[in-house]
Amino acid sequence: MVVLLNTRRHFVLLLATVFCFSFRLCFGEDRITFTTPIKDSNSDTLLCKSGVFRFGFFTPVNSTAKLRYVGIWYDKMPIQTVVWVANKDSPINDTSGVVSISSEDRNLVVTDGRNRTLWSTNVTVPVAPTTTWVLLMDTGNLALQDSRNNGETLWESFKHPYNSFLPKMTLGTNNRTGENLKLTSWKSYTDPSTGDYTAGLAPYTFPELLIWKNDVPIWRSGPWNGQVFVGLPDVDSLLFLDGFNLNNDNQGTVSMSYANGSFMYHFNLDPDGAIYQRDWRAPMRDWRIGVRFPKTDCDAYGKCGPYGICNSREDPQCKCVKGFVPSNATEWSARNWSNGCVRRAMLKCNASNGGGRGVGKGDGFMKLERMKVPINAIQSLANEQACPQQCTDNCNCTAYAYDKGIGCMLWSGSLVDMQSFVGSGIDLNIRLAHSELKTHSSLAIVITASVLGAAFVAAVCVLLACRRFRKRPEPKKDRSAEIMFKRMEELTSGNESASNQVKLKELPLFEFQVLATATDSFSLRNKLGQGGFGPVYKGKLPEGQEIAVKRLSRASGQGLEELMNEVVVISKLQHRNLVKLLGCCIEGEERLLVYEYMSKKSLDAYLFDPLKQKILDWKTRLNIMEGICRGLLYLHRDSRLKIIHRDLKASNILLDDNLNPKISDFGLARVFRANEDEVNTRRVVGTYGYMSPEYAMEGLFSEKSDVFSLGVILLEIISGRKNSHKEENNLNLLAYAWKLWNEGEAASLADTNVFDESFAKEITKCVQIGLLCVQEVANDRPNVSTVIWMLTTENTNLKKPKQPAIIGRRGASEAESSDQSSQKVSINDVSLTAVTGR
Ligand SMILES: *[C@@H]1O[C@H](CO)[C@@H](O)[C@H](O)[C@H]1NC(C)=O
Ligand SMILES: *[C@@H]1O[C@H](CO)[C@@H](O)[C@H](O)[C@H]1NC(C)=O
Ligand SMILES: *[C@@H]1O[C@H](CO)[C@@H](O)[C@H](O)[C@H]1NC(C)=O
Ligand SMILES: *[C@@H]1O[C@H](CO)[C@@H](O)[C@H](O)[C@H]1NC(C)=O
Ligand SMILES: *[C@@H]1O[C@H](CO)[C@@H](O)[C@H](O)[C@H]1NC(C)=O
Ligand SMILES: *[C@@H]1O[C@H](CO)[C@@H](O)[C@H](O)[C@H]1NC(C)=O
Ligand SMILES: *[C@@H]1O[C@H](CO)[C@@H](O)[C@H](O)[C@H]1NC(C)=O
Ligand SMILES: *[C@@H]1O[C@H](CO)[C@@H](O)[C@H](O)[C@H]1NC(C)=O
Ligand SMILES: *[C@@H]1O[C@H](CO)[C@@H](O)[C@H](O)[C@H]1NC(C)=O
Ligand SMILES: *[C@@H]1O[C@H](CO)[C@@H](O)[C@H](O)[C@H]1NC(C)=O
Repeated sequence: MVVLLNTRRHFVLLLATVFCFSFRLCFGEDRITFTTPIKDSNSDTLLCKSGVFRFGFFTPVNSTAKLRYVGIWYDKMPIQTVVWVANKDSPINDTSGVVSISSEDRNLVVTDGRNRTLWSTNVTVPVAPTTTWVLLMDTGNLALQDSRNNGETLWESFKHPYNSFLPKMTLGTNNRTGENLKLTSWKSYTDPSTGDYTAGLAPYTFPELLIWKNDVPIWRSGPWNGQVFVGLPDVDSLLFLDGFNLNNDNQGTVSMSYANGSFMYHFNLDPDGAIYQRDWRAPMRDWRIGVRFPKTDCDAYGKCGPYGICNSREDPQCKCVKGFVPSNATEWSARNWSNGCVRRAMLKCNASNGGGRGVGKGDGFMKLERMKVPINAIQSLANEQACPQQCTDNCNCTAYAYDKGIGCMLWSGSLVDMQSFVGSGIDLNIRLAHSELKTHSSLAIVITASVLGAAFVAAVCVLLACRRFRKRPEPKKDRSAEIMFKRMEELTSGNESASNQVKLKELPLFEFQVLATATDSFSLRNKLGQGGFGPVYKGKLPEGQEIAVKRLSRASGQGLEELMNEVVVISKLQHRNLVKLLGCCIEGEERLLVYEYMSKKSLDAYLFDPLKQKILDWKTRLNIMEGICRGLLYLHRDSRLKIIHRDLKASNILLDDNLNPKISDFGLARVFRANEDEVNTRRVVGTYGYMSPEYAMEGLFSEKSDVFSLGVILLEIISGRKNSHKEENNLNLLAYAWKLWNEGEAASLADTNVFDESFAKEITKCVQIGLLCVQEVANDRPNVSTVIWMLTTENTNLKKPKQPAIIGRRGASEAESSDQSSQKVSINDVSLTAVTGR
């Protein structure tokens, strides 16, 4: 095997060399070389390989000045959309401009007709014989690369962002290097010169997104809770659940990135000082605006001043926190709220008392629910129980809040920029004098009473709605359906918002007869495969839509519960890397689930098939790895419920027409309530080879057990081999990867179909990430958001993996031979799939 690999490598090297000599022929138009500058007078441009972005000279539309700028824009688009500009503050007033590689310092330079340098990449290029070229990549990134040193990137436009935040780009701050990648607006829609607005991450203890006008904040997002920015209303937060990632190393480096598979999607800081998310609607030939920040008047930073709360649904929008009064009543009534409010009754405990312990016995806290918390929070390491005491004990502390995803936040001094929301936000506790709290508590009774009243009305409405809903399948009404609805109601009541119930009701119920017809009476010809709880068939609805129907086997026993679980779980999830549930059917003994149809079937069908695995080239595999991670991240950090998949494996990853991965089979998924992190179960279900040791042996599962399965999948994708197949010296895949890693040969784990010397570094990194995921101790494993960060970053300075958990290293390949892995074998009340093969 190793010999084979080596010869292959030499061959690849040879190929690469030939490639390099002839690249001018193949890549002439996506790069600038020393001998091929771009001249405005010739209308030269670069076009990236995928044809999405173009680089060259342009004049902004509607501009009267007709000045020439060098920039990157979307090609073939009826609306000029520029995403980056080089010489923004030094345009050329005619068409004499040239973009070339400077013969002096080998930087990319923009010069005018009189040989004056207007703009330069201005980096130090290693001394001759280094030559450089400039490449426009498919992502819209323009890179100055060193031709000698493996095409090492010396400068790139993604590290010098202007007005647009494109997919795969990273914005952020780094305290150690002082680097701060922010967006900057144009001066106006027709003038690309540097505008007044900037936007980016602020390096606060709790990072948040800010927009500044001339360095003064005008909008903030609220802190990041690991899922969303808490200062955004529900709908706007949804944007961040889909592939958005914020990484904070707690040592001064914070960065954010996102990936929308389509490049016709971006965030832009417009000259009006707002961030717009836009995506291209081909049929309308127009950009659709997804969200805009700031959105309401209340979003304006500090609108209601210190101790003022803004509520965009009320008039006037500003009011003082209970126990506070306007600092200047005249201004306040004239709707000038910027001076805010002041405390009415002094605190027993105040800063001038020196902040001694226990001084403020008389003071208390008032809870404000669903708030955008004020700016400048201080971090405390206290847990949920200890957090209030931290604030009580310090007289300087004016408020505290605890959020599971953020931790304990304390504030001292004035509280600025608060907003109250309906469905999102976090609970903020503000310190008040004892006297204020008394009036508050009598008020609280009134509030509670009215809330109860409202809840009663809501409950009646829900009941009525449910009745109506239940009536729909009336002709076929039966007991199991009723149980199911009841159970759905149970599962969705409690913490859930009404919107989930609405969603459930929107979930269509199919009639059995319709599904039978669609699948030709579940004919063998239409059988796609055998899922966890029964066979899956391909079908076609009368309207022509293709579907996949999972018919739960009667024998499986716990079918109904699993079905309801799956229906409830999936119906709440919408993500491009998760399979969409279209509906369900329950009639008599029959229980069926209807999914969108995936033409390419499952990942294992490609990965482990000697013929088909060639279709998955390295870039595709990278994309699949990232997609699986993003889907899993969405499951793990869904804002209200954490979902652990528990049966992640290659056969549960489906591929769409473009080979994008979608996670399926949530029948075993376990929904975690808000304050659970780890759960012990007596029923262990899952698939041998993918199960973490703590789950297989002790029934303990957490998101880290999914990470373990993810690690196995990553290694399988890289190698094109199944875990626990017999390997060299009878090692299973994990052991084999670990062995190669220790020998410094990690890259040779890669499938020979995809191996290429130029990917060796990347492959090694991916093996390292895979190994980090399958470490023996759950706490050592990274979480999914870190995995994504590691996959997408160019930072190669990752942690060194420890010994992986190699259970069943005796190579029980039989256990893996069947996908009917969920058939459980009962051993003393604990059913364990893992041991079927032993
Ligand atoms: C240019 O002007 C036209 C007509 O006034 C307007 O419809 C269009 O939106 C403008 N384009 C830009 C990019 O401002
Ligand atoms: C362009 O600008 C230069 C000075 O930078 C000036 O000398 C020249 O006349 C200008 N040309 C035009 C056509 O305005
Ligand atoms: C511009 O500079 C290049 C090299 O530095 C020189 O060859 C060329 O003649 C100059 N052109 C003008 C118009 O000065
Ligand atoms: C290049 O960078 C140096 C310092 O980093 C700066 O002084 C100089 O003005 C820059 N030159 C250009 C052309 O931007
Ligand atoms: C980053 O540096 C700034 C200024 O040096 C400091 O105020 C801030 O707290 C630092 N942030 C972190 C997360 O260390
Ligand atoms: C990109 O975002 C748009 C708009 O939110 C969405 O419709 C589309 O499905 C996304 N594309 C991909 C490939 O995820
Ligand atoms: C309140 O504001 C008004 C208008 O700005 C000002 O004239 C007045 O002096 C202020 N009153 C106090 C008590 O500060
Ligand atoms: C509000 O009051 C502040 C200070 O009292 C003043 O500077 C500002 O101009 C006022 N704003 C408006 C809109 O009147
Ligand atoms: C602090 O409290 C003392 C009484 O305990 C009071 O006299 C003083 O004015 C207060 N100071 C502030 C700034 O609230
Ligand atoms: C409270 O603040 C004062 C000054 O603002 C400071 O001197 C004191 O040390 C602080 N006390 C605590 C406990 O932080």
